[in-house]
Amino acid sequence: MSVTQIESNTRQAEPSSRLQRFLNCYWLRPENAFWMSLRSQALESHPMTGPSIDLSCGDGVFSFLHAGGDFSCEYDVFQEVGHLDDVRDAFADMFDHASVGHEPEITNRPDSKFDVGTDLKPNMLLKACRLDFYECLVEHDHNLEMPFENDAFQTVHCNSAYWVQNIDQFMRELRRITRSGGRILLSVKLDAMRDYTLNSHRDKLGQRWLDIIGRGRIESWPSLCSDETWKQRFKSAGLDIVSRTPFITATHAHIWDIGLRPIAPLLVRMANALEEHTRQEIKSDWIDLLSELLLPLHDASFNLAPQKQEPAEILYELTPN
Ligand SMILES: C[S@@+](CC[C@H](N)C(=O)[O-])C[C@H]1O[C@@H](n2cnc3c(N)ncnc32)[C@H](O)[C@@H]1O
Repeated sequence: MSVTQIESNTRQAEPSSRLQRFLNCYWLRPENAFWMSLRSQALESHPMTGPSIDLSCGDGVFSFLHAGGDFSCEYDVFQEVGHLDDVRDAFADMFDHASVGHEPEITNRPDSKFDVGTDLKPNMLLKACRLDFYECLVEHDHNLEMPFENDAFQTVHCNSAYWVQNIDQFMRELRRITRSGGRILLSVKLDAMRDYTLNSHRDKLGQRWLDIIGRGRIESWPSLCSDETWKQRFKSAGLDIVSRTPFITATHAHIWDIGLRPIAPLLVRMANALEEHTRQEIKSDWIDLLSELLLPLHDASFNLAPQKQEPAEILYELTPN
């Protein structure tokens, strides 16, 4: 065996980095993979002791990867999408679609599972069900009271509170379902994100340009607010802060703002029209390149701005008082 062969065999035997595992699933939206990987890194030192619940779990892929799960390199979330023609102008969610018989190839199962996962969208829950990572999945709108007993959970995880309109009730519900001494792991976005866009250059770029880049996403998140307001919300709901971990800086948020979002539906159509082995070859080179470009920035404190700016997302560890 040549030295090159030995080296390449050794490389293949190394476990994939967290960022690579996220890129494998979300390669056509590298900026999302990057953000999720930083979110997962922030969660690392927080055990998810059972009974545990993942609120707004979506297709479960984030929590599955975070827990150490992995998929074959042939799998990614863009294989099972719909409404591609409506994504750009009607803001349709391409992932709100499930195909009968589509099974992800799992190469590594996490050591632990969530007891419960919830989401508003049945298609997302169907996908989550295939991972065999949730003991029970419940369709639920978090603007309403939750169908769980008081003190039911030791760990409550949620990274999607910014979608919930009825946010103060949601916070009280988090407290109600969490045991005394239990933990709520809440990743919250801040409205400082609005400043980490090119919106202040509207006079030069025009509204149409900003709409193409933004796709109305920040405007459709009803609970985005300042860090101070999040803290007030926790206090009013009877929740104490155990720890606070900012992990997305202004620079990360700027990179995310000008990501591949506007062309994602076209990229997905193009990738899915390729022969399987060609798609796989391109995907593999794509991930290698993106890993190399993003890894030096994959640090919760990476910020190019000279002055201190608010983070864009913070992980709060909360407990009922
Ligand atoms: C950005 S995704 C995140 C999913 C998952 N937690 C993850 O990290 O990949 C937001 C999720 O929130 C869900 N969602 C939005 N509004 C909701 C609501 N009112 N009640 C429950 N789930 C909701 C969506 O269906 C979607 O799956």
